[in-house]
Amino acid sequence: MAEPILEIRDLQKSFGALKATDGVSLTLMPGEIHALIGPNGAGKSTLIHQISGTFRPDSGTIRFLGQDISGLDMAARARLGLGRSFQISSLAQEFSALRNVMLAVQAQQGSSFRFFRPVMSDRSLTGPAMAMLERVGLAARAHLPAAELSHGERRQLEIAIALALGSKAFLFDEPMAGMGPEGSKALTRFLDGLRKQAPILLVEHDMDAVFALADRISVLVYGRVIATGSVDEIRNDPEVRRAYLGEAA
Ligand SMILES: Nc1ncnc2c1ncn2[C@@H]1O[C@H](COP(=O)(O)OP(=O)(O)OP(=O)(O)O)[C@@H](O)[C@H]1O
Ligand SMILES: [Mg+2]
Repeated sequence: MAEPILEIRDLQKSFGALKATDGVSLTLMPGEIHALIGPNGAGKSTLIHQISGTFRPDSGTIRFLGQDISGLDMAARARLGLGRSFQISSLAQEFSALRNVMLAVQAQQGSSFRFFRPVMSDRSLTGPAMAMLERVGLAARAHLPAAELSHGERRQLEIAIALALGSKAFLFDEPMAGMGPEGSKALTRFLDGLRKQAPILLVEHDMDAVFALADRISVLVYGRVIATGSVDEIRNDPEVRRAYLGEAA
């Protein structure tokens, strides 16, 4: 069996008397979208923050690409290819989509060749940057300023930048939030293709998106995973229906 890209084991995190993460274990496999659902306050964002490195867990381990990253800070985790999608919330708005990706390509190439610091020509950056925009379906919008892109297109651009910077897995906390039905549908189609390039741990309340996308779903309630399974298994799990889905499923 393939090795997990991300493996979380027995994570614990309390805020004072509140156990926000209560022994969570889960894996993210290559090519997979693993959705994490659960009621408000269940501890989904807290878990994502511990994986990206914003919060330190009280105990437990987080392995990424076979390496224990529990002791690494956020920047070190990002350099390994994790969690970058979150940090890049500030696109250079006045720059074109293409220029934004070129900067990322330059940063990545610059860091891999830092010993002899080549002066990068624009031409050596446009090729890879354009290829990246094609991968995320934004090639036709390459020359528009980031500020003129739609909400969903900006997400796509952020992901193109993350991929250019070497992201090997994505952690998304409610990416559909604030999007209309059309935007959600477009982002759903996009994430569907993205999983082949990098697996996704997806926190999302939009059940249409979750049921359309997830290879597996884990349900978090009061900091505990009460069930993990396929879309059908989760939809038909009586405990999940009682705790979270109710009549909505
Ligand atoms: N920095 C913090 N300090 C203290 N308590 C916190 C902190 N962050 C989260 N909590 C508490 O931890 C619990 C889990 O919160 P969290 O934000 O992880 O839930 P969530 O599942 O992401 O909810 P939502 O679906 O509303 O986003 C909540 O009771 C919340 O109030
Ligand atoms: Mg949250």
